[in-house]
Amino acid sequence: QRAARLPGRQDWSSWPHYQAAAAGFRGYWYPVGYSSRFTGKPRQITLLGEKIVVIRDRGTVYALKDRCPHRGVPLSEGNQQFPGTISCPYHGWTFDLKTGDLAAAITDGPSSPICGKVTQPTYPVEERLGMVWIFVGDGEQPHPIDEQLPEELVGNAAVVGSRIQPREGNWRFACENGYDEGHAKYLHRTALWRLFKPMPVWNETRIIQRGRWIYRVQDKQYWTADFPGLGRWDNQAWFKMKPPKQVGNIGNTISHRETNPVIAAQEFPGFASVSMPGVLRIVYPTFIHYEFYVPVDADNHLYVGVMADFRRGWRALPFYAKYLGFVRWLFHGQFSAQDKWMVEVTDAPPEKLYRPDDSLLKWRKLAEDTCEDRVERLAGQGITVTVPEV
Ligand code: FES
Repeated sequence: QRAARLPGRQDWSSWPHYQAAAAGFRGYWYPVGYSSRFTGKPRQITLLGEKIVVIRDRGTVYALKDRCPHRGVPLSEGNQQFPGTISCPYHGWTFDLKTGDLAAAITDGPSSPICGKVTQPTYPVEERLGMVWIFVGDGEQPHPIDEQLPEELVGNAAVVGSRIQPREGNWRFACENGYDEGHAKYLHRTALWRLFKPMPVWNETRIIQRGRWIYRVQDKQYWTADFPGLGRWDNQAWFKMKPPKQVGNIGNTISHRETNPVIAAQEFPGFASVSMPGVLRIVYPTFIHYEFYVPVDADNHLYVGVMADFRRGWRALPFYAKYLGFVRWLFHGQFSAQDKWMVEVTDAPPEKLYRPDDSLLKWRKLAEDTCEDRVERLAGQGITVTVPEV
């Protein structure tokens, strides 16, 4: 059974920007696919509900609105007739990839008077982590992408393994699921990934903010619990894993290996954190797992899972072996498929929250506050952004 579509069902009225962001938050960079996917053949993608044509020209990737202003045909159905341009398949309107300016209307001859009078909207594009990233905003100058990427991924050598998968369901459900305090211990109790990580029954948790991230800080973990009138529950899998002897802030492991120096230098206050516009970071002692929840439209998102190991040279080889040998299948595969399932069947709001949902509330507040700041900042630049009616 699929969840009901969100529009018309929303009453997250305490967070008007969040409520209105069914198709995502504007003013951010989003990963849209592996770099190798984007070649000289135009390709259509959908991001925040907008159809965008993406094409690589002499090594550089460009993105334009994928609707010819003449009669509304997708430019992604066309091709390149001249270097540095893309031509519409219908009448040959030809747009400069950098500026979006109409460079030629082929079927009206070289002196067509419409040239210079039409400009196709373009999108800023960058490539990072082997992926193409596109900025969707409201006409403002985009911030540098490195200001938005997780800090430790900028300026530190890392090997990464990733999985990109189009998924059904609203991106907010995906993000909330990723940061959700309770689901890791219950939904994922059957995941084989738990061979490597024991789970408590419940935690005493605080959510704290540091910079642009909010962190789940686990003050105390309970490995068994007696439920009055019901009995004991210990959340042990069939393989009877023992709880770790010591759990610190980066205690997301059963082993006691040394923490990678790049990770240690960050002094993360908690192992799970989230930031705008929907990025989850799970810190292990020797690697970090990220999830980017990319809004395609109100009903679909792109799951981008990235595992980064801050090693270089031959030391990276064991990571590749580990990633391709089992992490890709157990974590980016079976474990992540359980999340995918929940995002597809979640049907909120209305909702009745419980104590561990503080994580959801703090994420929504972060989103709301950040959006308000952006609206104010843009107003200062003379750009008015209105919160769409839901
Ligand atoms: Fe694109 Fe006519 S519709 S050139």
